[in-house]
Amino acid sequence: MLQQTLEEGRRTADAALERLLPPGTRYPTSIHQAMRHSVFAGGKRLRPILCLEAARLVAGSLPEGVDELGAALEMLHTYSLIHDDLPALDNDDLRRGRPTCHKAFGEATAILAGDGLQTYAYEVLARLRCPAERRVRIVEEIAHATGTVDGMIGGQVMDLEAEHKRADAATLEYIHNSKTAALITACVVTGGVYAGGKEEQVGNLRAFGRAIGLAFQIVDDVLDVTQSSEQLGKTAGKDTATEKATYPALYGVKESLNKADVLVESACKSLDGFGERAGTLKALAQFLVERKK
Ligand code: IPE
Ligand code: IPE
Ligand code: MG
Ligand code: MG
Ligand code: MG
Repeated sequence: MLQQTLEEGRRTADAALERLLPPGTRYPTSIHQAMRHSVFAGGKRLRPILCLEAARLVAGSLPEGVDELGAALEMLHTYSLIHDDLPALDNDDLRRGRPTCHKAFGEATAILAGDGLQTYAYEVLARLRCPAERRVRIVEEIAHATGTVDGMIGGQVMDLEAEHKRADAATLEYIHNSKTAALITACVVTGGVYAGGKEEQVGNLRAFGRAIGLAFQIVDDVLDVTQSSEQLGKTAGKDTATEKATYPALYGVKESLNKADVLVESACKSLDGFGERAGTLKALAQFLVERKK
């Protein structure tokens, strides 16, 4: 059941991305090849999957065109990974089992490929096939979630400033909520908005997204110390080497995993009002903390 959700969601996301992104033969080809190199490198597609399932939960079935919203979210996520890997940020060589974008295409093209994915995502969002008020709300939600005020860029800034400093618990939580949980929250919130969710439903999805988003980044930190680079498709042990502010660094692996479990439990409670139909999102939440990559 969960395997089917993951598999079908990944296929749906990949098909939308393939359809929407300019082909690698499109002039200027280098940038489109670089964008595609990073997008089609075997990501888990968890953000589009969460978005699709939130929409399905609200509407009862998958609303037409929601795959394009999922694809735009994955473009933004991939842009964040390309920039996260740049020498000026985390300086990583391996991503999704491939050389990072700047390793394969050079730094200038990688920066521009990230920019390109970001701007293109908003073009896709502007064309979403839902009523205009919902579309505007979706754009605002996503722009805020990826911005500097409690959003992804704000979190990335603090992540870099906290290196080699032993961040305190509050700073660590701010970093993780902003750099990762904000976008994950936007995925389920905008899925719910696209499907025409009522305010209370959207609020419950938001609470769910916040909790699983933090749990997701805690587990990402744990996997960095417990898994190999082959298993992860990205450089393992990197956070320890660069003295990043991470949950295992502050609390140890066991306590970090406990925290993730508690968050998932609270996330699942937020969806109780949806009844049995919330089973799929709850199973996804559980998967996020049990994953091995
Ligand atoms: C990695 O995200 C970056 C974080 C925010 C922790 P994912 O683990 O979802 O990476 P992909 O998309 O599967 O490559
Ligand atoms: C990534 O955090 C967060 C964003 C890309 C916004 P990390 O730096 O921990 O992600 P990985 O481990 O490189 O995937
Ligand atoms: Mg980083
Ligand atoms: Mg990184
Ligand atoms: Mg990490």
